[in-house]
Amino acid sequence: MYSEKVMDHFQNPRNVGEIEGASGVGTEGNPTCGDLMTIYITVEDNIITDIKFKTFGCGAAIATSSMITEMAVGKTIEEALKITRNDVADELEGLPPVKMHCSNLAADALKAAIADYKMKQAEKEKAESE
Ligand code: FES
Repeated sequence: MYSEKVMDHFQNPRNVGEIEGASGVGTEGNPTCGDLMTIYITVEDNIITDIKFKTFGCGAAIATSSMITEMAVGKTIEEALKITRNDVADELEGLPPVKMHCSNLAADALKAAIADYKMKQAEKEKAESE
């Protein structure tokens, strides 16, 4: 039912944890199953230099969180925003159709973390110009 890659990321998830003083933090929940994912990013010169996650969810949600952290690190904000749930599922060599919604959490939590980063940047710029 699950690809080897999904099993690998589920059993050995990469980049688990939180980043203190992160540049951006995003949390997304799935109202149907109640699962929750938080992504923390560090951004330097518009590039995601560090990323960590915490997921309270199913195996597919853990595997997709782990995979998206590997996909996003080293990317610019613009490149990271283009990562879709299908990209994550493709990198994992597919997810069972009933589990596709789990990869939404990863893509949405990353977007939320980037939105938080952008908001903080705008606030910083505003404060500096005052
Ligand atoms: Fe909830 Fe997978 S069943 S995210």
